[in-house]
Amino acid sequence: MLVNATRMLKAARDGHYAVGQFNINNLEWTKAILTTAQELNSPVILGVSEGAAKYMTGFKTVASMVKAMDESLGITVPVVLHLDHGTYEGAKACIAAGFTSIMFDGSHLDFDENIKKTSELVNLAHDKGLSIEAEVGAIGGTEDGVTADGEIADPEECRKIANLGVDFLAAGIGNIHGIYPKNWKGLHFDALEKIHQATDHIPLVLHGGTGIPDDQIRKAIINGVSKVNVNTDCQLVFAAATVEYCLAGKAAPDPDKKGFDPRKLLKPGYEAIKAKVKERMEVFGSINKASY
Ligand code: 13P
Repeated sequence: MLVNATRMLKAARDGHYAVGQFNINNLEWTKAILTTAQELNSPVILGVSEGAAKYMTGFKTVASMVKAMDESLGITVPVVLHLDHGTYEGAKACIAAGFTSIMFDGSHLDFDENIKKTSELVNLAHDKGLSIEAEVGAIGGTEDGVTADGEIADPEECRKIANLGVDFLAAGIGNIHGIYPKNWKGLHFDALEKIHQATDHIPLVLHGGTGIPDDQIRKAIINGVSKVNVNTDCQLVFAAATVEYCLAGKAAPDPDKKGFDPRKLLKPGYEAIKAKVKERMEVFGSINKASY
């Protein structure tokens, strides 16, 4: 069941759990995440970066695939189709393509420009019934080839962006995308608390969910995080499972076993994504929270 994320994340905030945003790259990823959410009776958010959407031939293809798959798999848990780190143009295109939620990432813009564009997109998204996430304080790391240093968001800027009517907010608290460096200092909980207070408890989003120790994730959830984004984790387990299958000789040109059949070749990676999503949902506390 495709929905926007507004009520879903308010319920998570009030219930002291978080909903996982798992980024999708193709059909296998989408099916693995949807079926796991259904099996665990968990709400879920499918994240789509602009790069991943381009890879899948465009926002329309993604929206059509997700809608059709949601229907044909008989998914009854709430599912959000969300643009991840959208540009202004990308956000508008997703509204037109049938996404149920968008993120506008204006964190790299001059703050006044971020305010102006976020404000415009809040109106456009809400007019069509979509939820909208904004960002203050760039999340570090590399995603889709764009590298940024991790920042700590200014609570006053967070307050101003939250007051525009955004439904949930990504605010940098030392988190970064991708694999954390060995000398990473951890999440800044003092900053999280200030942002939580300054924004009147709007649901907050923790990007860069891969590699943050579980105790820090749980502490962040208690302190106002209602959505945790996970991307690299699923890529790592998919790659490892596929490599293991190949190294075991299972993809060999054996006409009897036909392990090279893509449906067999991609199965270990598919199962690995399901196991990772389950493990993360357990930590986030979203299992059996499909009704809210
Ligand atoms: P990771 O790739 O570090 O899990 O981050 C995902 C993310 O924040 C997507 O916006």
